[in-house]
Amino acid sequence: MTTPTKKRRRILIGVGGGIAAYKVCSVIRHFTESGHDVRVVPTPAALEFVGKATFEALSGNPVSTTVFDDVDEVAHVRLGQGADLVIIAPATADLMARAAQGRADDLLTASLLTVRCPVLFVPAMHTEMWEHPATQANIATLREHGSTVMTPASGRLTATDSGRGRLPDPQEIALIGELLLDRADALPYDLAGVRVLISAGGTREPLDPVRYLGNHSSGKQGFALARAAAQRGASVTVVAGSTTDPGDPAGVHIVRISNAQELSEEMTKRAADADVVIMAAAVADFRPVAVADAKIKKGDQGPAPIELTTNPDILRGLVEARDDGRIPSETVIVGFAAETGDETGGVLDHGRAKLARKGCDLLVVNAVGDGKAFGTEDNTGWLLSAKGDETALPFGSKTLMSSRILDEVRQLVPDGPGA
Ligand SMILES: Cc1cc2nc3c(=O)[nH]c(=O)nc-3n(C[C@H](O)[C@H](O)[C@H](O)COP(=O)(O)O)c2cc1C
Repeated sequence: MTTPTKKRRRILIGVGGGIAAYKVCSVIRHFTESGHDVRVVPTPAALEFVGKATFEALSGNPVSTTVFDDVDEVAHVRLGQGADLVIIAPATADLMARAAQGRADDLLTASLLTVRCPVLFVPAMHTEMWEHPATQANIATLREHGSTVMTPASGRLTATDSGRGRLPDPQEIALIGELLLDRADALPYDLAGVRVLISAGGTREPLDPVRYLGNHSSGKQGFALARAAAQRGASVTVVAGSTTDPGDPAGVHIVRISNAQELSEEMTKRAADADVVIMAAAVADFRPVAVADAKIKKGDQGPAPIELTTNPDILRGLVEARDDGRIPSETVIVGFAAETGDETGGVLDHGRAKLARKGCDLLVVNAVGDGKAFGTEDNTGWLLSAKGDETALPFGSKTLMSSRILDEVRQLVPDGPGA
């Protein structure tokens, strides 16, 4: 989960007294192994769950919970002032209440009053605590104060309970933290109430019970978009084919499909209830005409020829559905074009032609091949709009690229800032 260091930054990791405190050790490790200077500030309750020695050994720095240690260094002011990023995980209901009120009754909350860098709260608690109006009001206050509050995952909670309120995967916390280091304003809470439907990953077109025609898509870009949209408040569904992304994004509804026809059916059905549809999946253009019931044998004559037929054009189909009123006319439709240059034109030329052919509102164009885009952590490309705007998307993490794409999408959503 470690990514190469860009620049050594000062990361303050505040740990609350929740059962998920042990998982935050992986987040600490991620940032130290990435070369950053990590200071861990637990609450006194956090030390009931994980010992001070663990935090000191993992961070390589001393650990205190009180403003009365290292008084000569005025730690309660300096730690916050010097931070480039603060991550609070697990952010307990109690800790968020104290932070929302501006209390300063331990070293962590005192430090929070002096920080001027991005602050990421990662809540984890039982569903009832999460849903309580007091907790939700405190979260709204923290967002008003400029903090990012992550949407929790659903799943197993303490003891035998399960539901909403689980700490997101440590790798996802690290990705969102890295995003805020790259771009402090990457996750405004501006998509609340917006329904976003995303396709991600590759399709597999079956040949027989054991073989398929597939592609190299990892699903990382589609999942990164889902992650960023969910953290901006959107209600997100991902229709996912084959993916190698290790964790499902927190707070996102995932529907699994295998081949292009299944993807087409799911996207067409679900698009009617979406405000934004993003086609980030790598969909096979062709599929075998016949799928053998039994494994195809090698035979004496060499391989039998495979006859292919064309798959539905899902992106074009969605635009047509919008044109003829099967999905609402204000639905924003975004396509992706993974292109390689050839003798007929460069990557951008092919992207422009695809935008004209498909009729979507935005098209993200990336160069693929030679290890680019497929399966990588980073991406780059262009964002083309139906209005004729062309924006270069600078090289960076797929999550960073997603935040820039969503900025443009937000402008097009009815009642959005540019609508
Ligand atoms: C076993 C156990 C697990 C707990 N897990 C959580 C939790 O996941 N989330 C939460 O908000 N509080 C949880 N609590 C309650 C907090 O520990 C309690 O509210 C404490 O005051 C939090 O202190 P802090 O916010 O200063 O860290 C748990 C308590 C116990 C005993």
